[in-house]
Amino acid sequence: MATNIKAPGIGASQASDTSGNQWSSRLTFILAAVGSAVGLGNVWKFPYIVGENGGGAFVLVYLLCIALIGVPVLTAEILAGRRGGASPIRSFGIMAERDGHSPNWQVIGWLGGLCAFLILSFYSVVAGWALAYLGYAVGGDLSAAGGADDVGAAMGTLFETLLASPAALVGGHTVVMAITILIVASGVRGGLEKAIRWMVPGIFAILAGLVIYAAMASGEFGRAAHFMFAPDFSALSWDAVLVALGHAFFTLSIGMTAMMAYGAHLQKDAPLGSSAVAIAGLDTLVALMAGLAIFPIVFAAGLEPAAGPGLVFVTLPIAFADIPGGMIVATLFFLFLAVAALSSTISVLEPVVEYIEERTPLTRKGAAVASGGAIWLLGIGCALSFNIAGDMRLWDRNLFDLLDFTTSAILLPLGGLLIALYVGYVLPERAVQAELAGIGPRGYAVLRGLLRYVAPLGIATVFVYGLV
Ligand code: TRP
Repeated sequence: MATNIKAPGIGASQASDTSGNQWSSRLTFILAAVGSAVGLGNVWKFPYIVGENGGGAFVLVYLLCIALIGVPVLTAEILAGRRGGASPIRSFGIMAERDGHSPNWQVIGWLGGLCAFLILSFYSVVAGWALAYLGYAVGGDLSAAGGADDVGAAMGTLFETLLASPAALVGGHTVVMAITILIVASGVRGGLEKAIRWMVPGIFAILAGLVIYAAMASGEFGRAAHFMFAPDFSALSWDAVLVALGHAFFTLSIGMTAMMAYGAHLQKDAPLGSSAVAIAGLDTLVALMAGLAIFPIVFAAGLEPAAGPGLVFVTLPIAFADIPGGMIVATLFFLFLAVAALSSTISVLEPVVEYIEERTPLTRKGAAVASGGAIWLLGIGCALSFNIAGDMRLWDRNLFDLLDFTTSAILLPLGGLLIALYVGYVLPERAVQAELAGIGPRGYAVLRGLLRYVAPLGIATVFVYGLV
């Protein structure tokens, strides 16, 4: 059966784990974590929420959330994962009991498991869009739309046609879930480590190329940079701050124990603080590059920055239609986007599978199929909420928006708040210090201050103003 059953309390002895249950190096861990962090959140979601929430002021709040709340919570989550030594969903309960605290801290794990279900069901639908566009690039639909008189309108129609097709959306979602289940079922190490090694650099290279293209060809780079970086605080609402905070969690993959799962396989002596900074830095870089590639094209084509979830899928193809060899670039871009999405989907499913494997007689394969299958069902509802079930609304949102909003804006920050409190106040300070050996007394003091005061108060304040 399961090969990764670990006795509770193994934390301290993990350093000598040579069973192949660890990342082969710290670099691999960072790559896998970056693979989890970098995904649709950066390339699809970030630009469109910047567009919807008024630009510069939103970006500034987002960057503050990453630095002051995201990085400390990311560090805490990896730390808790490495120390916990069980499946991430169960780790908090086990650690709390071991240290003589209430086993109710286990609630962080339950929240995380719930989040994994909800997030993956809509995320997989969007990853399916990337696959559909890969098909459009190869099949000639993109170049056909690119040859229209009004390219912007033709690309808009192409996207709307996709959303209107239940079969296309459910099909894409099904392929994404099937691949995710397959990779997770066969263990992350072999296939994924290899793919990520060149996919993450690949995404960087293509985005850099697109930024250069946007800077040189669109004539609107200055306006885009101004839109993204000149803060206009009159455009900022508490709702927007709530979205920025939620997105900081979403984009770093924190708040639902996904990074705990990855941290659990990290060598005892690998430094945590600098790893977290590197992961967050690379993730932020990809998001900003995506914005700088997309907004110049939006402005040049006379499109709306606040176009919503279709933004990337409508704007970038306009550029692809214009670049010599654009269809090759388009093919590579959507291929890489799909892979970036898959290196994220697996990290959402992983904690659930580890938990089921540990707690039920199911094997890893059985656990992956059972949980992935349930998520697939919920995802069908999300796919249909773009067409035949579009009128089913709750609090003025369809199922897709509802899942997106409740997870990012509420559940992930709530999970992050509890994790910050746990590592800041409940975990014995000796243990925290031992895990963080290497960041120095000053770094430790800063991190502790952020975890105990800044992150919890920041999250609580945004909750109070954004939700009430
Ligand atoms: N961070 C990924 C992205 O930006 C999505 C993701 C992967 C995620 N794992 C997660 C989000 C865990 C929240 C929690 O696309």
